[in-house]
Amino acid sequence: MIVVTGATGNVGRPLVQALASAGETVTAVSRRPSDTEPQTGVRHRQADLTEPESLKPALDGADALFLLVAGGGEGVSASGILDVAGAAGVRRVVLLSSQGAGTRPQSPSHAPLRAFEDDLRQSGLQWTVLRPSGFASNAFLWAASVRERRTVAAPFPGVGLPVIDPADIGEVAAAVLREAGHGGHTYELTGPSPLSPREQAEAIGQALGTPVRFVEQSRDEARAQLLRFMPEPVVDGTLAILGEPFAAEQRVSPAVEQILGRPARTFAHWAQRNIAAFR
Ligand SMILES: NC(=O)c1ccc[n+]([C@@H]2O[C@H](COP(=O)([O-])OP(=O)(O)OC[C@H]3O[C@@H](n4cnc5c(N)ncnc54)[C@H](OP(=O)(O)O)[C@@H]3O)[C@@H](O)[C@H]2O)c1
Repeated sequence: MIVVTGATGNVGRPLVQALASAGETVTAVSRRPSDTEPQTGVRHRQADLTEPESLKPALDGADALFLLVAGGGEGVSASGILDVAGAAGVRRVVLLSSQGAGTRPQSPSHAPLRAFEDDLRQSGLQWTVLRPSGFASNAFLWAASVRERRTVAAPFPGVGLPVIDPADIGEVAAAVLREAGHGGHTYELTGPSPLSPREQAEAIGQALGTPVRFVEQSRDEARAQLLRFMPEPVVDGTLAILGEPFAAEQRVSPAVEQILGRPARTFAHWAQRNIAAFR
């Protein structure tokens, strides 16, 4: 049995779907009840990662764990979760980390995830670390202004980054959880090509069939907007990557194609599949 934390989010949903389609038995975990249709082989359990003991019922009978720590990891103890998982019989853990844990390990935004990675590597459990670039689903931030005013407001309009479709992360995670040979590996995962915010807005307009206006935000305006729902260190780390990316953060990684045997999905594909949110 495979336990998937973060099961109702951007990555967790397609991951649970991929595992269930492959015939695996899955326990999907989140704090709130799941609103997805029941699927064969999938049960849902409520637990809170800030209270590792609450995971015990979900981990009963598990051999593998997909670990997703949302919100910058505040209040979450890696060793606490890994101890509970190991005691429950889990042997293999796949951690969703972030590209920034590799490129900016000292920055306050990414140091907690890097520490999480290090704890996992030292846990004695078989481990795999996934380090994705920025998610295509971050564009949901623009959904209301596209619906209401056909406008995208974002900073750094011309800076291209290889954003990744979270469904690709979910499918990679499913492959890594199911196949042998991924233990002890750290995979950087990106989309197929760098794309700027202005180009993302154009792709949303194409999927809508109507142009979307682009308005450049100042860094301060973007910061104020992001601070409404993200912790301050995460906001500043995110803006640093969006505005002044390192060369390593603009590079396309071959890992998605190597693991899945097909190219990574484009942002345009993500926009087409999720266009209902922007109508
Ligand atoms: N967005 C990016 O550009 C980006 C880039 C690189 C890495 N990442 C990493 O990706 C992860 C976010 O993935 P996502 O977009 O799939 O997340 P998401 O859509 O925000 O979903 C978060 C999931 O985690 C659950 N959750 C949140 N807090 C929890 C807790 N304390 N205990 C148990 N479950 C909890 C949520 O359900 P409930 O709320 O019901 O608990 C939900 O299922 C983060 O670790 C982030 O560092 C993101």
